Amino acid sequence: MPAIIKTPAEIDKMRVAGRLAAEVLEMIGPHVQPGVTTDELDALCHDYIVNTQQAIPAPLNYRGFPKSICTSVNQQVCHGIPANKRLKSGDIINIDITVIKDGYHGDTSQMFFVGDVQPHATRLCQLTYQALWQGIRKVRPGATLGDIGHSIQHFVESNHCSVVREYCGHGIGRDFHEEPQVVHYGKPGDGLVLEAGMCFTIEPMVNLGKRHVKLLKDGWTVITKDGRLSAQYEHSILVTEQGYEILTLRRDEQPDGPL
Ligand code: MF3
Ligand code: CO
Ligand code: CO
Repeated sequence: MPAIIKTPAEIDKMRVAGRLAAEVLEMIGPHVQPGVTTDELDALCHDYIVNTQQAIPAPLNYRGFPKSICTSVNQQVCHGIPANKRLKSGDIINIDITVIKDGYHGDTSQMFFVGDVQPHATRLCQLTYQALWQGIRKVRPGATLGDIGHSIQHFVESNHCSVVREYCGHGIGRDFHEEPQVVHYGKPGDGLVLEAGMCFTIEPMVNLGKRHVKLLKDGWTVITKDGRLSAQYEHSILVTEQGYEILTLRRDEQPDGPL
């Protein structure tokens, strides 16, 4: 199934939704501290999205998801459900924000460090951020989804970590999850050929140990099978004539990623 090519008017709305999603991450960062609960982080984001941004938190009630954001701590890979559980120094946490504004979605996530974090955990997060950008830098008309997946997989595995296979990036627009699926592994030249006007996320999940995952009985939380740490970063991206535009770029980021 092909990806939807967005019109210029739709792209303007995607830019607005993307910026709002990025601004939620900028807002919540200072609140990620030892002692805060993930429920409190969820409530702060919910209030900011609904009241300040006058937007909609897309996860809330999405296929029965009970909260407004996803919070995935340590060995949790993705789709962690905020709870009455306090963060402690040394934890790493992914916060994944999706907002709907004027009918269009913006989807982005980043890792945060809680207090003092061990070097192997900070390294995993840095590696995952670099892996995201290895994929982003392949994006241009004529490149393929396989080019993106291969560059991420090659980079991660060269650094002795593993890429989760069961969850992937996705087209984004009027729907939260549109065609195509954007997997984070593959072969150069395989898969869909990119065209200007496509919008999709890239959101690699990288494990310090083996790639295998399991789903908890809550039906949402994905954890590593071996119990080791996992990290994820996500951007929503527009394919442009020149290459790419990051719709969810934050103030702490460079437009072309880390050096
Ligand atoms: N934001 C996630 C993604 O990147 C999806 C979360 S679905 C939810 O695709 F229901 F868990 F919110
Ligand atoms: Co996504
Ligand atoms: Co997301």
